[in-house]
This record gives sequence, structure tokens and C-alpha cells, in this order.
Amino acid sequence: MAEDRRSSEPDQGYLRAIRARLEFLLSSGLRPETGTLLRRMRGAPLEELLAVRPDLTTSSESIANAATSEAFEPHPLDYHWTFCPETVDRVSATLMARAEPVVVVGAPTIADRLKERGKQFTFIDRNPLFRPDLTLDLVAEEAPQQRRLESSIPRTFFLDPPWYPDYVAAWLNFVALHCKPVQTIFMSLWPELTRPSAEAERKTVIDWLSSCGDIVIHPDALTYGVPTFERLTYEARQLAVPTPWRTGDLIELRCSEEFLPPRKMERSWTTWQRYVIGRRQLAFKLAVDRRPPEVEAVGFPSGHFHLQSVSRRDPIRREANLLTSNNIAARVAGLSYFLSAIELFYGQGLSMASLSHDQQNALVLMRDIGCIETAEHTEFMSWQHRD
Ligand SMILES: C[S@@+](CC[C@H](N)C(=O)[O-])C[C@H]1O[C@@H](n2cnc3c(N)ncnc32)[C@H](O)[C@@H]1O
Repeated sequence: MAEDRRSSEPDQGYLRAIRARLEFLLSSGLRPETGTLLRRMRGAPLEELLAVRPDLTTSSESIANAATSEAFEPHPLDYHWTFCPETVDRVSATLMARAEPVVVVGAPTIADRLKERGKQFTFIDRNPLFRPDLTLDLVAEEAPQQRRLESSIPRTFFLDPPWYPDYVAAWLNFVALHCKPVQTIFMSLWPELTRPSAEAERKTVIDWLSSCGDIVIHPDALTYGVPTFERLTYEARQLAVPTPWRTGDLIELRCSEEFLPPRKMERSWTTWQRYVIGRRQLAFKLAVDRRPPEVEAVGFPSGHFHLQSVSRRDPIRREANLLTSNNIAARVAGLSYFLSAIELFYGQGLSMASLSHDQQNALVLMRDIGCIETAEHTEFMSWQHRD
């Protein structure tokens, strides 16, 4: 969702655009404080802001963070940035006023609010933790429960996809292939300074949607909290980040033409084995591996397992085969022992003594690096997705 570095060289055009925006804000009278500025910087991350103006003071301003009341920890592979309460109020009021059928995709906070208010709608999400009406991975090829989505009446959609064009293409493809007819689509859109390629990628999405009807863009209409995994990346870099700071635009398409699928972007997908254990979410990249259990820190001096960025292209994230909602990235050997130990101990409630030596060792290693908080667990779920 955030910065996306293709090379370690700073992108000069991108830095110039950040500098220009910053100068504009300061010349319009804003205080030279990170908190005041960051929320108006069209997605530019704090480290980029500080790269162009290291003299900015840290804001003492602190606003309630949506993520502090997390009932569970969102997982980075879900790109799970939770809306702030005022955004939940505003978006759900808009959807409450729409005639049925309404479809909410990938926005559990909006779905929860609409349920509380008694709205009839369909909620689609791949993570079973949020108890969607349809548990569907929208980047997977097949849509096994698609018949339940048939309707003769045009629908209103609210989509909050991960902020990358390939995800947006996959989600809009799903709508075009399985959910027609479309009346209105409300969808989040990343601001143009989110990463160096953000502005061009925005244009691609706007062009797709414009070919199907009239669009209106509501700038900075969506505000997001800072999830645990992101807060921990700031702590790992000793950055004091005012929260919440992230905003997104809301794009509204009133569909007048047939809603045609955008060109699907081909890329290779990996299968992940996911677990929910208590409040924590774990993800293991699947591969056949029967070596003895071992965990290794990826790309850090030994003993450091925390990611320092939320970028999808962080090389550490590519190499790790274990990613957790508390920001741990590790390379695991002996994957089958980790998976079977979790299933038996947390899933089936077997005692430690009944596990094999290698399975016990796998659990101890995970606890040692801080993946699992405690042996007590109220929630356990096991599921898979592609990414
Ligand atoms: C993209 S965010 C949006 C969260 C939203 N801002 C909120 O406050 O509810 C995360 C949601 O999208 C879902 N998601 C991510 N990728 C998905 C996919 N490929 N198919 C279906 N759901 C997906 C996640 O499971 C998660 O619930």
C-alpha cells in the first residue's frame, strides 16, 4: 500500500513532486510539523517527507487511532488498513441510503456497521475471520459460489482493494464477470504521492473506469488507521509517526455503459497457509520442505526479525516464507513441522508432550522469535489464499 521501491536510487521526479507539494502547503500557512503536513501530503510516506525536509519538527498532536481498538491484528498480506471511525460513519451512511442490492468487498468495518444497522447487502472477503457472506479470493481464477451473485437489478458496490493496479484489475474483473449489472461503484484510490509509480497507476485505473460511465473523485475522503504491523515498522526505524495519517480518495463511477472487465495483469501467485491464533495472524508460504525445523532472520543482523517497511516490493518480504501480523518476517526450514505442530497444538488442542520432537521444536522456535504470544488461545482458524 505504501512506498514501493523498485531500486535503492531515490526517484528524482518523485522527490521533486514531494518537495513541490510541501512548499505549497507551507506557503499556505501550515506549521512545519510532520503531523500537520503528513495528512495533506497525498500519501507521501514520512521517511520521504523527512528526506526532502529533515528539519521538520515531530508533531505532538495525537488523534485516536482506529487500530488501537483492534480485536485482532490485521495482516500485511491482506493490505489491511482499517478505516477510521469518521470514514466508517460516512461510507456506511452513503450505502444505507442506496437501494438494494448493495455489495461490499474487502471492507469488514463497513460490513459490520451495515449489519448493525440492519441493511440487506452481500459482503465478500477472502479472510474467514470476518465472517463474509461469500468467502472468495478475488485474485484466484475460480469463483465457486458465483451463482449466489446473480441478479437482474443493477447493484451498488463498495470496494476497498489493495492499492496496486493488478489487485484493482482482478477485483474489477470479478465484478464485471460475476456481478453484473452494475449501477454504481464506490472504490478507494491511492493518492498520487503514495510511491513513485502511484500517479501513473492512478491514471490507468481512472481510464478503465471512465470508459464505463461518469466518474467523480472525492479527494482524501477516506482516512485509515495505522495497523500494528505498520506501527512496528516505524518502531523498528525509531520514527515517531503521528497517527492516523493515511488518506485515500473515493472514486465514484455511475455506470452508463456495459461494465467491461479491465485487462487482467498476469503475474505469478504464491499460495499461503494462514492461521489465526488468538489475536494474531500467521502466514506461511507453501512449499514441500521436510528438513528439521529452523528459523532464520532474513536480511537483518542475526536476531532481528522485524520488517522495516510495508512495501510489497521490500526484498525481505520476497525472501521470507513466514510473515505475521506483528511484523515478523523469517525464513523457515522444515515447514511441514511448523504447520503440523500448529494444527495439532492450537487447532486440535493436543498437549505439547504428544507432539514429535521436531514439532515441539517448531513451536518453541516460533515463541522464541515472538510469533505466538501465549499458549492460551480463544480463536483458531486455518485457511489458504494466493498472493
Ligand atoms: C484491502 S483492506 C480494506 C479494509 C477496510 N479499509 C476496512 O476498514 O474494513 C483488507 C480487506 O481486504 C480483504 N482482501 C485482501 N485481498 C483480497 C482478495 N484477493 N480477495 C478478497 N478479499 C481480499 C482482506 O481479507 C481484508 O478483509
